[in-house]
Amino acid sequence: THVVVVNGPNLGRLGVRQPDVYGHQDLAELRRLCVAWGGDLGLDVEVRQSDDEAEVIGWMHRAVDEATPVVMNPAAFTHYSYGLADAAHMVTDAGLPLMEVHISNPSARDAFRKHSVISPVATGTITGMGFFGYRLALEAVAHLLAD
Ligand code: DQA
Repeated sequence: THVVVVNGPNLGRLGVRQPDVYGHQDLAELRRLCVAWGGDLGLDVEVRQSDDEAEVIGWMHRAVDEATPVVMNPAAFTHYSYGLADAAHMVTDAGLPLMEVHISNPSARDAFRKHSVISPVATGTITGMGFFGYRLALEAVAHLLAD
């Protein structure tokens, strides 16, 4: 099964952006790990990143049209993008898993990070586990698909 791992704004800066919060590994390493973890689970994983809200929304539409489960770190869009929330809702409405992932634990950080507009429309949310959260999310997708 094809699974898309979507990363929102500034996640192309992993490794140099606040390494105390997001770690020292970069997006290329995250991509390599997700593809390997997917392989273990029988999933064909494709990792994408964009700083452009319209592009990320388009990827949700494509996931619906192609019946592709989604793992998504919406990054800052998490906290304010109703456009992305509506698009993510279409994914779960189509009966497809959509796992929300955050590398950090946003609840333990700034007040504006405590609210997610994505969580209410996601299948589930994993926070605070670093890159390993993506592995947990891929395992959740594999579990949901097997059900
Ligand atoms: C993040 C948390 C968000 O609050 C932040 O805007 C990000 C990354 C995370 O992975 O911990 O860009 O989604």
